[in-house]
Amino acid sequence: MPIDHAVGQLVVTPTDKALLAAAIAAQAHAHCPFSKYPVGAAVLTADGEIFGGCNVESASFSLTCCAERVAVFKAVSEGHQQIVACAIVTAEQRPVPPCGACRQVLFEFGATMRLVLGTQAGDIRIASLGNLLPEGFGQEQLLGAVGAAESSD
Ligand code: THU
Repeated sequence: MPIDHAVGQLVVTPTDKALLAAAIAAQAHAHCPFSKYPVGAAVLTADGEIFGGCNVESASFSLTCCAERVAVFKAVSEGHQQIVACAIVTAEQRPVPPCGACRQVLFEFGATMRLVLGTQAGDIRIASLGNLLPEGFGQEQLLGAVGAAESSD
């Protein structure tokens, strides 16, 4: 029986479940012959579209791309820059949070986005990117530097 873990005021919604289902569908396409660790992700854009992604590994190991980043890049490359939620699923028995690199890439497109961390059995833990990546590096910091460089020209 799937267990829904609500965290704080965050309860599991039908949209969370739909997003997790999209992540599970994407996970089936994972290319992970080296780690044998299939991951699926799905992002929900502000205008309600869902884009899935899986991890894509390479024989040149460092070229591997995580599932979350594949999903984000698919959304952005189709013209969606505001992401409100991201679901992630692995083959583990408990929900697994995103790696640090993916937290940073997710931050770019929704600093406080909702994270739906799930299992294939349907267990769900709801988290917030703001809690997992407090004080992420964003455009605000960079634009400060760009502004300073422009004013000194
Ligand atoms: N992986 C992801 O897809 N997302 C994460 O957040 C962590 C790790 C992938 C990368 C690699 O293909 C495999 O999981 C093992 O690290």
